[in-house]
Amino acid sequence: MGEHYPGLFQPLKLGTMTVKNRLLMSAMSINFGVDDKGRVNRQLTAYFVARARGGAGAMLVGGGAVHPTGLELPHLPTLWDDGCIGPLEKMVRAVKPFGCSFGVQLMHGGRQSYHDRKVAPSAIAAPAVVKGVPRELSPDEIMEMVAAFGDAARRCRQAGFDFIEIHAAHGYLINQFLSPNANHRRDRYGGCFENRIRFLIQIIEDIRSKCGRDFPVGIRINGEDYISNGWSMHEALRLSRILERLKVAYLHVSAGVYGSTQLTIPSMYVEQGCFVHLAARVKQEVALPVIAVGRIKTPEMAEEIIKEGKADMVAMGRSFLADPRWPLKARSGRRKAIRHCVGCCLGCIHAVLALEPGGCVVNPEVGREYLSDSENKNSVRQTGRSAAGRRVLVVGAGPSGLAAARAAAKAGHVVTVLEKEATAGGALALAAKAPGRGELNDILDFFLNEIDELGVEIRFGCRLDSQVLDRLRPQVVVLATGALPEVPMIKGLAGSQMELFTVNEVMAGKADVPGEKTVVLGGGQAGLMGADYLATRGKSVAVLHRGDHFAEEMSSNDRYYLRERLKQGDVSLFKKVRALTFASRGVSFRCDGKMFELEDCDSAVIAGNMKSVRQAANLLKGRKVELQIVGDAKSPRHLMYAIEEGERVVDELSSST
Ligand SMILES: Cc1cc2nc3c(=O)[nH]c(=O)nc-3n(C[C@H](O)[C@H](O)[C@H](O)COP(=O)(O)O)c2cc1C
Ligand code: SF4
Repeated sequence: MGEHYPGLFQPLKLGTMTVKNRLLMSAMSINFGVDDKGRVNRQLTAYFVARARGGAGAMLVGGGAVHPTGLELPHLPTLWDDGCIGPLEKMVRAVKPFGCSFGVQLMHGGRQSYHDRKVAPSAIAAPAVVKGVPRELSPDEIMEMVAAFGDAARRCRQAGFDFIEIHAAHGYLINQFLSPNANHRRDRYGGCFENRIRFLIQIIEDIRSKCGRDFPVGIRINGEDYISNGWSMHEALRLSRILERLKVAYLHVSAGVYGSTQLTIPSMYVEQGCFVHLAARVKQEVALPVIAVGRIKTPEMAEEIIKEGKADMVAMGRSFLADPRWPLKARSGRRKAIRHCVGCCLGCIHAVLALEPGGCVVNPEVGREYLSDSENKNSVRQTGRSAAGRRVLVVGAGPSGLAAARAAAKAGHVVTVLEKEATAGGALALAAKAPGRGELNDILDFFLNEIDELGVEIRFGCRLDSQVLDRLRPQVVVLATGALPEVPMIKGLAGSQMELFTVNEVMAGKADVPGEKTVVLGGGQAGLMGADYLATRGKSVAVLHRGDHFAEEMSSNDRYYLRERLKQGDVSLFKKVRALTFASRGVSFRCDGKMFELEDCDSAVIAGNMKSVRQAANLLKGRKVELQIVGDAKSPRHLMYAIEEGERVVDELSSST
């Protein structure tokens, strides 16, 4: 072990603590795993045990709330009284055997907290995401907050944690003090640089006085806020030199605040390793250990960051959600076995900001680790029954079909997959053809590699029919046949001279969309991606959407970048469209009380409602076959459900023997 990515698998000293490798699971406010008082429970414990077992060098509990006014989300660990210590101690004891350094990130949400008791340096609302003007903290209250950080750190130390990280980034309370954008105070906590950093420095001193100087304290700062009048690299460097003199354990350099132009949790549109340059700049300035973060997904990139001295440690958030065993797989050279985060932001940050429990689109096990009894696996729950050996035929090699095939094969069933096309992927493969979304193929690569290793046969160019059923004699058929766009009933559409395509045909490259002007009917995710695809090919595109909002099924982070892309192309977006009527080469419609007429249109692309495809079920009538329908074939929904439903098939299989 250890020959692969040797840079990543060497120990590192952070203050008085030695971490076994260079991989940190960054703090994530995951919004589950606590009781109604915010005491951590076995759900959160199992979530961390899975990642410690998977080889993380260090991990941070996210969102540790130091004060009731600073609770960022409803279901995060609370650290503001001694009652938290016992449950935390239990969690630390469960993680310790795996040799992973375990810490807590101390945070106060300030104006970015979800509730209406928000406080901040100044009474200025957050620029985005949360609503409501916070109350300005008085000087006495500032001292109360300083002490709250110190007390919380003391509790973490008492519970047995190895270190803590102070959250001074991402637009939360400390960052609000640092940033001129949020701090308009005129007292000794506002104005000049020295005043704005005072709150942070006092917190560090208070923690030291309560925990001792040997307790490692790392600091997470922004290299850039990416917002007007925000904190910038120039000030980050000044602060870094001061923190070096204070001998903090490390500097963890991230970026962005709510409403910034670069988001802290960027989607797949943003290049991998997007904030590494910020850490590298800080590293040039100080001799402290520096941690880099931001869409680091591959062991190659992580290794390069360490080898080239851009940072001393690599932090990954979502990669650890998508695959808790990322480090073990990298270390043993099984990089193809890594289940990659695809940067959709939907299951994780979008969910938590909607005050739902955090999860992951590609790994349905997030938050369910405590339900598994098995010791050494991360994704497919083992049912405990040995129901192996059933002949399972999966129809459709899209994400839900592949997930079902993998889960069934892992449980010991004999699985065959039929795919009518020449390649796998279904709707996902089409979605991956949209500009900037190629990373979606990582999901397919993962499943194809897995089922190949499991010996599952995929028959391409093969549809389900009676002969196939006679030959294979399946005991179970899993229909994962997907969905297709429905042609809408629109006045004049049938008689129009415009050429008509479905968005699937366009993305599959099966349609040569003629002319310059195209109308896309439907402004959901598929419609906007189709528009982006056509605009990058030089078309002038109008998207007509009946709904109130575009692409509601996307995460807001992902949608933000897509909308920015569309602004670069010749794309006009119309929502709340009514009275849509087609003419021979144009359309008229009402939008926001005004009538519009688009003339000289060459084509229309249908990207509205989807309809499940499951006619193949009729073939099973009269046969002694168990039928399961998963993914879009069950009802057209998002990818998130496709994989989860596919994986759950195995539970049903076992329970029905
Ligand atoms: C669900 C979720 C919650 C997060 N909560 C926190 C948090 O509490 N504190 C923090 O510093 N960063 C938080 N982050 C940001 C991550 O630590 C990390 O900086 C970010 O996701 C970018 O890294 P990645 O591309 O490796 O995920 C959160 C990210 C996610 C996805
Ligand atoms: S939900 Fe999407 S962005 Fe979040 S961790 Fe999973 S794959 Fe990554």
